[in-house]
Amino acid sequence: MRNYTILFSCFLAVLGFIFMSSSGGRANIFNEDRTGSPLASGQFCGQCHAGGNFSPIIEFVILDSAQNVIFEYEPGQTYSAMVLMSNGGGSTPSGFGFQASILQANNSMAGNFSNPGTGAQISTVNQVEYAEQTGPKANGIFEFEWTAPSAGTGTLTMYAAGNAVNGNGQSTGDASVKLTPTTLTEKTSIGIAETQEISLRIFPIPAKEEITLDLNQEVRNPQLSFIGLDGKVFEAPILTSSLQKGANQIQTGHLSSGVYFLKLQSDSGVQTQKFIKY
Ligand code: HEC
Repeated sequence: MRNYTILFSCFLAVLGFIFMSSSGGRANIFNEDRTGSPLASGQFCGQCHAGGNFSPIIEFVILDSAQNVIFEYEPGQTYSAMVLMSNGGGSTPSGFGFQASILQANNSMAGNFSNPGTGAQISTVNQVEYAEQTGPKANGIFEFEWTAPSAGTGTLTMYAAGNAVNGNGQSTGDASVKLTPTTLTEKTSIGIAETQEISLRIFPIPAKEEITLDLNQEVRNPQLSFIGLDGKVFEAPILTSSLQKGANQIQTGHLSSGVYFLKLQSDSGVQTQKFIKY
């Protein structure tokens, strides 16, 4: 009986160690911002996690109810948010971790995070909320929600960092990545008035073999290209002399995984929209 008690205590101790570990979130366990933000003095996961043969890619997007990536927020509006991590080369990692925040110009928290999905949690450090992993997640897709701050808050910055890990329970043999901070501007009434402009929506995000390009009007003489984050341009195959109002299917199977801008050039000007190829 005593042996069982000792065994059980050991088991609890190991369990406790696992839950106390950094794999359960840098903010949750160590009260640390490691998103690469000014609050972290630029530090991110790469401070400790390195040495692995992975090339992690991180993307942090805010989506409206139509699954459109937004760069302009409506004050008080609740959006879905996603941190997408994937591996761009080298060996296959066993999982991914991340930490993300959205800050005002004075580095205080902008809005609120809520509703973390599987594998994600919201932790608070010094009144700033962080979305982060609960443990290494194999598919690297982390979902939560974000409610934009009240009117007059102004331009915000999205920060995120993450890692591809080998699952050895240590910071060795992993590889880290830091998002280039992205700005979110506040929507003003001027932005809403532009009804005659071409507006394009892309879904699904992330996309695999093809994307649907949804247009609010017919577009004549379209020229479509995909631009990678590295600036590489890929022409998209366009078989018609016009794109129809509504849904148009565009093949994306030839693109390697990563973040792209779809650029639509036509008689009516240039529009770009960001999307993620998985
Ligand atoms: C100051 C050093 C340090 C920093 C910074 C750090 N970690 Fe860690 N991390 C560790 C250590 C040590 C471990 C292993 C022991 C543990 O889990 O506490 C670990 C473990 C992990 C694991 C499990 C790794 C595996 O291979 O099993 C994940 C996932 C993880 N951290 C995510 C992150 C993320 C995401 C960040 C950045 C937002 C980060 N860590 C920043 C030290 C750090």
